[in-house]
Amino acid sequence: MKLQIYDDYRSLSEGVAAVFVDQIQQKPDSVICVASGHTPRGVFEQLRGLASSGKADFSKCQFIGLDEWIGVPADNPGSCRAMLDNDFFLPLDIPTSNIFFFDGMDENPDRQVKLANSWIADRGGIDVMLVGIGLNGHIGMNEPGTSFGRGTHVATLSASTVTTAQKYFNTHTEVTKGITLGLADFRKAKVPILMASGAAKRDIISIVLTQEPDTTWPASVVQQIPDARVMIDKACAPNIK
Ligand code: PGA
Repeated sequence: MKLQIYDDYRSLSEGVAAVFVDQIQQKPDSVICVASGHTPRGVFEQLRGLASSGKADFSKCQFIGLDEWIGVPADNPGSCRAMLDNDFFLPLDIPTSNIFFFDGMDENPDRQVKLANSWIADRGGIDVMLVGIGLNGHIGMNEPGTSFGRGTHVATLSASTVTTAQKYFNTHTEVTKGITLGLADFRKAKVPILMASGAAKRDIISIVLTQEPDTTWPASVVQQIPDARVMIDKACAPNIK
């Protein structure tokens, strides 16, 4: 694991965007997993700028969304799909044929798990996987207690995630389950990136980086991944020696 601490959110976002650009220069048809949520929005802003000035070309890349709420349609602005459509896929003109996203409305979510696994296998695995961290230490919807070896699965959300999820929705929306790529997918990605920003994440980042890796804090798996990059800003770093 490599820890990189940036002065502020903007320089952090630029740093993460630079990893993407390096990757697609080496492999223009890279397979990229992106998280929704607030943390990566600055990265997407950077990537939109780089793409519009011709410095990054995502046209050959393949994309997979990290997770989705079960029971929330893609056109709900709080869905993971809608967030990524608005911030990334639509402004960059990514063809829908180059995107896999879990359908949270599938009455058989296990089918979505199988579809994601085949999609990834058909493309030879994930190159870059960008994830954030929840206040409870989750990655995607890999909630506390999830085994580090668990792959893509249907997840029951922890109470903390159920509450925090409301920040994404315009009106109260009951979410209790989701479909998510797993910690095993994160371990297998060629460039796994955990990104965190802001004082609210300071305590959990401190735990995840300094305590013995334990499924109580799913993101502590990063300590066991030699190629993982933990990219954070100073605001969430002060407890780290
Ligand atoms: P956030 O969510 O980026 O909106 O803080 C991260 C997460 O819960 O995984």
